[in-house]
Amino acid sequence: MSVSPRSVLNNESPATDPNWWRQAAVYQIYPRSFYDANGDGLGDLKGITAKIPYLKDLGLDALWLSPFYPSELADGGYDVADYRNVDPKLGTLEDFYTMTEAIHAAGMKLIVDIVPNHSSDQHAWFQEALASDKGSAARARYIFRDGSGEHGELPPSDWTSIFGGPAWTRVPDGQWYLHLFASEQPDFNWENREIRDDFLRTLRFWSDRGVDGFRIDVAHALSKDLSEPLPPQAELRRLESLHNGSNPLWDRDAVHGIYAEWRALFNEYTPPRTAVAEAWVDPSRRARYASPDGLGQAFNFDLLMADFEADAFASIVTKNLAESAATGASSTWVFSNHDVVRHATRYGLPARTGADGNQDGKAWLLAGGHEAELDRELGLRRARAATLFMLGLPGSAYLYQGEELGLHEVAGIPDADRQDPAFFRNAGVEVGRDGCRVPLPWTPAGESFGFGDAPAHLPQPGWFAGLAVSAQDAAGDSTLNLYRVALAQRRRLQTVEELEWIPNDNPQVLHFARPNGWNVVANFGGTAVKLPAGDVVVSSVPLRDGKLPANATAWLA
Ligand code: NOJ
Repeated sequence: MSVSPRSVLNNESPATDPNWWRQAAVYQIYPRSFYDANGDGLGDLKGITAKIPYLKDLGLDALWLSPFYPSELADGGYDVADYRNVDPKLGTLEDFYTMTEAIHAAGMKLIVDIVPNHSSDQHAWFQEALASDKGSAARARYIFRDGSGEHGELPPSDWTSIFGGPAWTRVPDGQWYLHLFASEQPDFNWENREIRDDFLRTLRFWSDRGVDGFRIDVAHALSKDLSEPLPPQAELRRLESLHNGSNPLWDRDAVHGIYAEWRALFNEYTPPRTAVAEAWVDPSRRARYASPDGLGQAFNFDLLMADFEADAFASIVTKNLAESAATGASSTWVFSNHDVVRHATRYGLPARTGADGNQDGKAWLLAGGHEAELDRELGLRRARAATLFMLGLPGSAYLYQGEELGLHEVAGIPDADRQDPAFFRNAGVEVGRDGCRVPLPWTPAGESFGFGDAPAHLPQPGWFAGLAVSAQDAAGDSTLNLYRVALAQRRRLQTVEELEWIPNDNPQVLHFARPNGWNVVANFGGTAVKLPAGDVVVSSVPLRDGKLPANATAWLA
């Protein structure tokens, strides 16, 4: 492929503020499902470039792109075959440069996904490992082991993959390799210096091409203690080990040595490149990833895991603001992404009961479905209220494509159309994550609702028509226009990263003030409440007789 190293190489974004990320509104693009410019049913980089006016108009500070690298799409692109290239199905490096320039010209930053725990089994290194002997340098880049049992016919341990099924797969010469996710995603051996150096090269490659920041996939899994004998699966699940860093696979302290090296590289750039960790760790250990000596920011999934409930929201916000003040990171807030059931749908389903530990909650989120129990109107109303509450908080807000349209999870995708490995490895237990990855509706009619000129790669439901971008443009009360107004006004809230809780006598109401003098009031209860004095800047639903209705949020100046 011929690539002209144009001005975009070593191109700094126009804005050099080193703190741009601290209170940024970041929009996650799942490239295959955003906009299809070449009419093949898959979204692409040219499609993103074409929609930059839409994204700018929405009022975003940054875009985060899920993987767009060459991939067999065994896990939606999180199986990377070449870390320093663009998937030909999505475009070229040239398209990437054009897109980056356009994003910067529109005053936005670009964050890309880095997937360091595992590659694709199609990666040249894994193919080389397969073709090489036991004990070779090529195999030492991954995690190969002899099997157990008399003839090595059993896997080295009983570990299961996150997507279900065994975490070990056997290769023709009898050895087994570890994959914490799908078998097409072999885990790298991060004890190997070559892996570390190669990822530094990748981070430099994209930083030199104008990328402003990185989202680090499964940031808590890179360092592993694989000393023999390998402990049984039951041992891996022991909560205590997940809370104190002694788990052999997850959240080991040694991982921060890797991120210290990455930070040194990030700081060579002006402004320093940023990073946000995807680390599903015990909340007490999250701050380590967000340290200024490490990645600098970590996703806080606490709100995403919570029900729409005043007490839960209040304590999560208080705890997380205190945590980030202690480390110097800024707080992150997120309700939806490409791995979980959309929040409009979660809030329209009956509240969860019983034990609510991370694992249970996550499984529930991944399970999706439950169409029959869904109250669509209530779910969307609460989602709008929750989002307006979140956008009023100090810290950065991560939004997922389609939530600005009020999209619900797409249930009932036929099995034959499903793509998520979690579905295939868990058939009958989990429907997987395809329901939040269905291509966006841009127009109420037309092939694939304006997503492109061909049928979309995942089937879109008929109800997408009414939620299409062009259908919402002119409707003053649409979810799209609520996001536009809130994101535009939010900039005025982004002074000091603080809030002050204002006590009130209704336990269903949360009220806080921001340093610019604005107030945010959220009503989680079932009846309308009186608002404090002030002019309404924006509200998630219209006020009724001057009161804030049930399941609603308002900002007051
Ligand atoms: C987390 C990503 O968000 C998810 O989509 C992916 O399946 C796993 N990591 C494995 O890369």
